[in-house]
Amino acid sequence: MNKVKKIAVMTGGGDCPGLNPVIRAVTKTAIMKYGLEVVGIKHGYRGLYLGGDEFIPLTLQSVEEIISKGGTILFSSNKDNLFDYTYEDENGNECHGDVSDIGIKNLKDSGIDALIVIGGDGTLTSGRDFSRKGVKVVGVPKTIDNDLAATETTFGFDTAVSNAVDAIDKLKTTAESHGRIIVVEAMGRYAGFLALSMGVASAADAILIPEIEYDINKVAEKIKSNFANGKNYSIVVVAEGAKPKDGKVIVSKIVEDSPDPIRLGGIAKVVAEQLEKLVDNEARATILGHVQRGGSPTANDRILSTRYGSYAVELLMQGKFGNMVTLSGSSMSYESLENVIGTNKAVDPNGELVTIAEATGVSFGR
Ligand code: F6P
Repeated sequence: MNKVKKIAVMTGGGDCPGLNPVIRAVTKTAIMKYGLEVVGIKHGYRGLYLGGDEFIPLTLQSVEEIISKGGTILFSSNKDNLFDYTYEDENGNECHGDVSDIGIKNLKDSGIDALIVIGGDGTLTSGRDFSRKGVKVVGVPKTIDNDLAATETTFGFDTAVSNAVDAIDKLKTTAESHGRIIVVEAMGRYAGFLALSMGVASAADAILIPEIEYDINKVAEKIKSNFANGKNYSIVVVAEGAKPKDGKVIVSKIVEDSPDPIRLGGIAKVVAEQLEKLVDNEARATILGHVQRGGSPTANDRILSTRYGSYAVELLMQGKFGNMVTLSGSSMSYESLENVIGTNKAVDPNGELVTIAEATGVSFGR
């Protein structure tokens, strides 16, 4: 029999617009539909390890006004894998090892029957590992990159595109005033979904994505033709994971202890310098960075997050543990955590949106 009476929810990995609406939907569905008790675990798996004040009650009041709030009211951590954890022992010595049993004990001691983990690959991998140890887990995927193969769309993506398009609209007025080329760098890791969507939505002149290795001379030709046709400025959107033909991605930082330590970034400056020389026109680079992840989620993301959160509780109540909530076509569904880890998707270089963008004059540098 499925005896879930008290559940916990946590957020892990980088933040993403829509996390708070998920927490709200989990809490409201659990309390209003099923009469459950809900606990929020602060700081992701670190909070699960620490227990105590890191476990806070979530009530209807505490989630009342959070649907429009960016970030996560439960805070997050992208470094704390309890199966491979660095901690201090009682004598202050640094130790390293598997402390997952402490997390499981903290759940039991608090009377928590099941856990909803909201996060990316690292968080969901630990969710799977806790599930293998018998914890009743349901995962909710989050990423602004929209690169998870198991689900159609992740919440946060729409907001990130919208934030970027707002920024590019502003960059256009200064680009036009000075007759400049502005190269805008998008997040997205090794996938070009963000750059492609923001580029199309802001009528960029060129979009450079990881899935299509670019030739900078082709991009320069497009910009020269802009000038020849009377358009005095150009916008180039470049994904942080884009790379030139026979070239490499640019790494900006290595974050020790992170499940995925490589942080990409810096390509916009390189592209701007090359274009300035090739086109013989002033160019500037803007890295949008974390602005893309900030602020209030869009209406679409609030709705999608609410669907993900509410469905996670439904899965728990149906005893469908060890699964991740997915969007399949237009319906909520689920897939085993065993099958979803590390299954990323990429933009189809000959897919519909790329083809339409090219038909409307966008250069991909090929
Ligand atoms: O995966 C989401 C994401 O925002 C990527 O697009 C980006 O490369 C990365 O996280 C940035 O990570 P951090 O917040 O650790 O700098």
